[in-house]
Amino acid sequence: MTQPLRWGILGTGMIAGKFAADLRHTPRGHLAASGSRRQESADAFAAQHGGRGVAGYEALINDPEVDAVYISLPNGLHADWSIKAMEAGKDVLCEKPMARSAAEAKLMFDAAERTGQLLIEAFMYRTLPSVRKLISMVRDGALGQVKLIRSNFSFTRDVLEGDARYEPSQAGGGLMDVGCYCVNLTRAMMGAEPTDTACFAHLHERGVDDYAAGVLRFGDKTLATFTCGMTVANDWTTYIAGDDGEIAIHDPWLGDGTFTLTRDGQVETIEAKTDTPLYALEAEAFAEAVGGAAPWISRDDTLGNMRVLDQLREQAGVPVPA
Ligand SMILES: NC(=O)c1ccc[n+]([C@@H]2O[C@H](COP(=O)([O-])OP(=O)(O)OC[C@H]3O[C@@H](n4cnc5c(N)ncnc54)[C@H](OP(=O)(O)O)[C@@H]3O)[C@@H](O)[C@H]2O)c1
Repeated sequence: MTQPLRWGILGTGMIAGKFAADLRHTPRGHLAASGSRRQESADAFAAQHGGRGVAGYEALINDPEVDAVYISLPNGLHADWSIKAMEAGKDVLCEKPMARSAAEAKLMFDAAERTGQLLIEAFMYRTLPSVRKLISMVRDGALGQVKLIRSNFSFTRDVLEGDARYEPSQAGGGLMDVGCYCVNLTRAMMGAEPTDTACFAHLHERGVDDYAAGVLRFGDKTLATFTCGMTVANDWTTYIAGDDGEIAIHDPWLGDGTFTLTRDGQVETIEAKTDTPLYALEAEAFAEAVGGAAPWISRDDTLGNMRVLDQLREQAGVPVPA
């Protein structure tokens, strides 16, 4: 086996903590260092998760003992720091959504090409065996012609002061925070880009969409709806209906490893579980890509998703930061 990747984490927020905790469960990588704007946060994070605490993001991306950088910053900071990290010779796993817009994401991939570094969007749910199986079954025709897809991702929690999800300049909002998953899964199952889209959103007083609903049309055969939100009750379900059957999955995003397939009135539970925690799976998929395997989220997949998110925000009257 190749040497375990030496990870550096940029930012010490919520998802950084989950990624760091799961890294302990894979032999394919370990936490070398974490960079925070403040030394105290970096030290506290290191005390909890291991590795060194580094003050300042520049110091982290230039750390000679780091091979790969995980960008867990607010959306508006993804492009700048991913590009800087690649220019410093690091491979980059960048949180979703990749950037504020498709144009910005394209600049990031241009930098990846220029520097020869790897850049992958951290759609962690796509590394789950159950989701891989779901996508291949739908694409291989288990449901016949797919006609309707309904995908949902909403949650509710207190609006915290300084929460970048409620910051327009950081490309916050429900469409970017969680709608991006519904769009990504739908496009992945279809293996195609939508031919038409429509979207409506509710604007929160802080200037971002807090909940939204949209439609993606794929030619004249398939219609997909999605709902997403940050101030509404949890709904993480996705349903896919074709002329030969229906699949229902209750949680494709964090995954309990199961979904149901209904055909001819018979309900079959399909299981594809794993003992490896989600972000460890993602770190392993990243290590495989560093070793030459195809990334689980390709450049075209990310750019396609970003283009749809641009379009949906425009249709819903949600500003797309320049
Ligand atoms: N894949 C997943 O499962 C998943 C889940 C949740 C979120 N995400 C994505 O991960 C990213 C971070 O989300 P999060 O929930 O972890 O956010 P968070 O808890 O707010 O953490 C973000 C971190 O970024 C740093 N930061 C730098 N400038 C900041 C600013 N102006 N405002 C706020 N934080 C700033 C801070 O770290 P320091 O103080 O240490 O510098 C902060 O702790 C987002 O892109 C989000 O979409 C992914």
